[in-house]
Amino acid sequence: MISIPTLALALLAAVQTVESASAGCGKSPQSSGTKSMTVNGKQRQYILQLPNNYNSSKAHRVVFGYHWRDGSMNDVAGGGFYSLRSLAGDSTIFVAPNGLNAGWANNGGEDITFTDQIVAMLKNDLCVDEGQFFATGWSYGGSMSHSVACSRPDVFKAVSVIAGALLSGCSGGNTPVAYLGIHGAADNVLPISMGRQLRDKWMQTNGCTSKNAPEPSAGQQAHMKTTYTCSKAAVTWIGHGGGHVPDPSGNNGQKFAPGETWDFFNAAVAAGGGGGNSGGGGGTPNPTTTSQGSQPSNPPATNCSPRYGQCGGNGWGGAKCCESGTSCKVSNDWYSQCL
Ligand SMILES: *[C@@H]1O[C@H](CO)[C@@H](O)[C@H](O)[C@H]1NC(C)=O
Repeated sequence: MISIPTLALALLAAVQTVESASAGCGKSPQSSGTKSMTVNGKQRQYILQLPNNYNSSKAHRVVFGYHWRDGSMNDVAGGGFYSLRSLAGDSTIFVAPNGLNAGWANNGGEDITFTDQIVAMLKNDLCVDEGQFFATGWSYGGSMSHSVACSRPDVFKAVSVIAGALLSGCSGGNTPVAYLGIHGAADNVLPISMGRQLRDKWMQTNGCTSKNAPEPSAGQQAHMKTTYTCSKAAVTWIGHGGGHVPDPSGNNGQKFAPGETWDFFNAAVAAGGGGGNSGGGGGTPNPTTTSQGSQPSNPPATNCSPRYGQCGGNGWGGAKCCESGTSCKVSNDWYSQCL
């Protein structure tokens, strides 16, 4: 005979697991750190960063941060995963994969296969929400984020592509995934026209109505955001006046990119639909605010931040020094950057 409270609890548990908790829920977790795996016969590495208070019964969000050309997984982790970690609280597991030859050429799809193997590990060993996988990156890392959206729309709910281009291929690309593009009008490495090309591709896939998307002129310290009306998944475009940088300064010098990326990911979950393999819409939104308890407790103690990485600001728990050739400049109370 089942008592009413027991039944109620059982029903509640059933409702909570309807969304998309992975097979790894309830298992004791592996630790954060640098990991290796063999992919197509090659040794590959990635950094896994669990939340400070990892809870094996909670389905976590997952964010992949792909590094730039000549950068590495260490740079991405040292920079707080494009500064998203400080916005994530304990909601999110971060992954920084390491490219071959410090890039994401994705020859024969080998970097997609690498990503697949990490995704499989995450689902099997950790408690993740299968409807909340995201990817972001700057430059080559943005290009790889675009590529995973093309090839794995059933895995990734949304991507944020910062100064990306078609450098890592796009195998597929016909299934909607929410797409945020951020690009500088003064980008002299991957011109903004290359970023528009990716945006336009997703506008088509996501069923968006085209409209005028104004951008600041090159050199202007400003940013302009265009949110398209789309029938299948969101597309947002933010043009700024800066160059080829991962964390541009916009209106009033504001470092808008991390917050815009985080908000975009949250909105994609709230909207449900295209991208990721769960309903998603029923999930509890993750915290979007920085709380006192959410700072990284184990930043790489000996690594200084890379160029353009964060090196200080209220609540910053990461490296306070900068790689050689750069120095720590205060942008505002909340943000200092290696320049
Ligand atoms: C872990 O997560 C579960 C499910 O969200 C929750 O019920 C539980 O209270 C959490 N435990 C702790 C210690 O926060």
